[in-house]
Amino acid sequence: MLIGIPRESKTGETLVAATAKTANQLQGLGYDVVVESGAGAHADQADEAFAEAGVTVGSADDVWAADVVVKVNAPTADEIGRLRAGATIISMMAPARSPELVEQLVAQGVTALAMDAVPRISRAQSMDVLSSMANVAGYRAVVEAAHEFGRMFTGQVTAAGKMPPARVFVVGAGVAGLAAVGAASAMGAIVRVFDVRPEVAEQVESLGGQFVEVDFESEVSTDGYAREMTAEQEAATAGMYDEEARNADIVITTALIPGRPAPKLIHEDTVAGMKPGAVIVDMAAANGGNCAGTEADQRVVTEHGVTILGYTDLAGRLPAQTSQLYGTNIVNLMKLLTPEKDGMLTLDMDDVVQRGITVVRDGESMWPPPAVQVSATPKVVDTHPAGMKEEKAKLTARGRMTIVGIAALVLFGLISISPPPLQERLTVFALAIVIGYYVIGNVHHALHTPLMSVTNAISGIIVVGALLQLGEESTPIMLIAFVATLLASINVFGGFAVTRRMLGLFTRS
Ligand SMILES: NC(=O)c1ccc[n+]([C@@H]2O[C@H](COP(=O)([O-])OP(=O)(O)OC[C@H]3O[C@@H](n4cnc5c(N)ncnc54)[C@H](O)[C@@H]3O)[C@@H](O)[C@H]2O)c1
Repeated sequence: MLIGIPRESKTGETLVAATAKTANQLQGLGYDVVVESGAGAHADQADEAFAEAGVTVGSADDVWAADVVVKVNAPTADEIGRLRAGATIISMMAPARSPELVEQLVAQGVTALAMDAVPRISRAQSMDVLSSMANVAGYRAVVEAAHEFGRMFTGQVTAAGKMPPARVFVVGAGVAGLAAVGAASAMGAIVRVFDVRPEVAEQVESLGGQFVEVDFESEVSTDGYAREMTAEQEAATAGMYDEEARNADIVITTALIPGRPAPKLIHEDTVAGMKPGAVIVDMAAANGGNCAGTEADQRVVTEHGVTILGYTDLAGRLPAQTSQLYGTNIVNLMKLLTPEKDGMLTLDMDDVVQRGITVVRDGESMWPPPAVQVSATPKVVDTHPAGMKEEKAKLTARGRMTIVGIAALVLFGLISISPPPLQERLTVFALAIVIGYYVIGNVHHALHTPLMSVTNAISGIIVVGALLQLGEESTPIMLIAFVATLLASINVFGGFAVTRRMLGLFTRS
């Protein structure tokens, strides 16, 4: 089959649906690829780059006559008219908001696959263009803000005086928000972050941000998306938004609830109370904006000197990398649709990802697809009836008590028959086990690596102690010393081996 990559017709579009590298990968799946001349000009993908990669560069007619046409933006009515019956078109389409587009595609008798309808499940992550775009856009939002702010993000103490770090407040810690947190804290700013989903706090902190706690009823999201705030939640958060925004030099808003207009979170009086020179980047501008005064695709400066950026093309402002990511998402989709790598596109309607993106199939509307159970935190299904569950819990508790009881009896027995110095040591040993169990059992997962260093140090002491005992004449003492040396050495060398492997994961090839 022939894949055509047209030049985007949307005014000001910088992106292209394939780079020389990804077009080449599509050929590796058995397809022929033709790219419209000049399609990648704004994304550092000149015609020569495609030609060098062995990809044909052709005219618009060549591209639109292909079996599969892949583009970034939804096709226009004219473009749909150029598709031949039976062809497949793949692009972003916002099908839920574009019923006329779906009708036109049906009338043309084509198959249409929407890249922006890929369900948010782990298996489909490699095809998720919205995440790819939001990630780049979040980074770019910080760059735009830094440019407007016109001051350094990082704090400095110099001979000429002190400069405080910039304060950035990020609203919403999804894909775009987290990218913004990472970029702003890497530039040295103090980054404060709020999200209605409390489970993202750990990710925020791992990127150097501070999660703003609000005392309100919230539940852990089961599908990775937020629900609309209740009136009580809105009341509880309103004061926090006002205070954080007024204290911030830069506010980046990314709050989104799928299928709903963007929630208005930063109100007019808050904007009026912000410092002159402060910057707001409202990433939700395309959906109405999270901030009062935002205008889509505009730079607005309020009378108090606060700049509000409502750019909706942030990902397109880094066109080379965004096109590369988009192209890779396309390659990953085509791998799924070409299981035999024979250049033949096949659609399996039993597969949730393929069904989810199919808007029209051979001229038949397939929109909307059945809901996909996207579960970020899958619920553990307990098939045991409540009574059985309690019984099982009791049994486990009883089993544990029995083991502790037997261990205590054995210990008392040993202590009673041991000579006095050993009695003392056995008692210390028993207490160490109990305290160690409770202390180490409660150490947070994130601290397991430093904990390993401590256990390595303890193992080192054990090795030294055991080596001193190896020369003893008593065979049992020799044996115990030998086993202790062996086990502690395994812990020390195993620890080094695991650390080495972990460090290897961060080494660039
Ligand atoms: N301007 C651009 O060029 C551009 C590019 C890509 C994405 N976007 C936009 O950026 C926004 C974020 O995209 P994303 O992919 O990160 O979405 P996402 O779903 O991954 O993240 C949205 C986050 O907002 C949070 N949220 C919802 N309501 C909230 C509230 N009231 N207060 C605080 N947090 C709240 C959610 O919990 C979620 O974590 C979207 O509006 C998207 O359209 C803009």
